[in-house]
Amino acid sequence: MNYQERQKVVTIDGPSGVGKSTVSRKVATGLGWTYLDTGAMYRAVGLQCKQTGIDLKNAAALAELLDKLDIHLLPPLQEDSDVRVLLAGKEVSEAIRTPEMGMIASRVSAIPAVRAKLTALQQAMGKNGKIVAEGRDTGTVVFPKAAWKFYLDASPKERCRRRVEQLRAKGQQVAPEEILAQIIERDQHDRERSIAPLRMAKDAMLIDSSRLNAGEVTAWMLKQVRGHVDSLGNVLDADNNK
Ligand code: DC
Repeated sequence: MNYQERQKVVTIDGPSGVGKSTVSRKVATGLGWTYLDTGAMYRAVGLQCKQTGIDLKNAAALAELLDKLDIHLLPPLQEDSDVRVLLAGKEVSEAIRTPEMGMIASRVSAIPAVRAKLTALQQAMGKNGKIVAEGRDTGTVVFPKAAWKFYLDASPKERCRRRVEQLRAKGQQVAPEEILAQIIERDQHDRERSIAPLRMAKDAMLIDSSRLNAGEVTAWMLKQVRGHVDSLGNVLDADNNK
């Protein structure tokens, strides 16, 4: 791809519990760019489906729900907290971030109509660049022309340890063995679905964060972006990166 065609976008994809949110938020803060948490959008759709009790196989009902979908992402209140989410004007930031909603989100995210709707919304949010997008398909499908694509990975055991810590810090009682089972099931589901499966983009840079902390991963990513080096190691035209 011609470097001029590259979009001023950072994408950070990877499996659940790998630390994408923390790192994405930090990279966005470091660059002064907008943080786009695409997983929060799938979680919000999952919550809407749960609240309305809709049958996911009923295409007409799902189309109507997606047509009326009203999701707003607001910046985190603090640097280390999650993006806030409004669903039909009501704050659902806490309600969407439970292990149960993670599983429901993974299920609804395999439905083509849901992906088409959210992908279009995400592309509209990122059309002017200066965005750090996090998810499963942001480098492969949503922003294929992003200049900086990263794929974060870590062992399931380490991801489980981090997730348990994170949920306990929020006051949620969780059993580690259940979280590990959910991580493995969700990974398999996200990787094996036929549409926009979780995979590393060909032009992404792989980082195994098992032995790196969030600060170290962030610093390395910021170095690539600020050094005008794209994820294949090509030096970008500085004009393209103003
Ligand atoms: O990142 P997360 O755990 O909040 O994402 C919840 C689910 O949403 C995840 O299991 C799969 C789905 N998802 C997706 O399919 N594509 C994305 N870009 C982001 C999330």
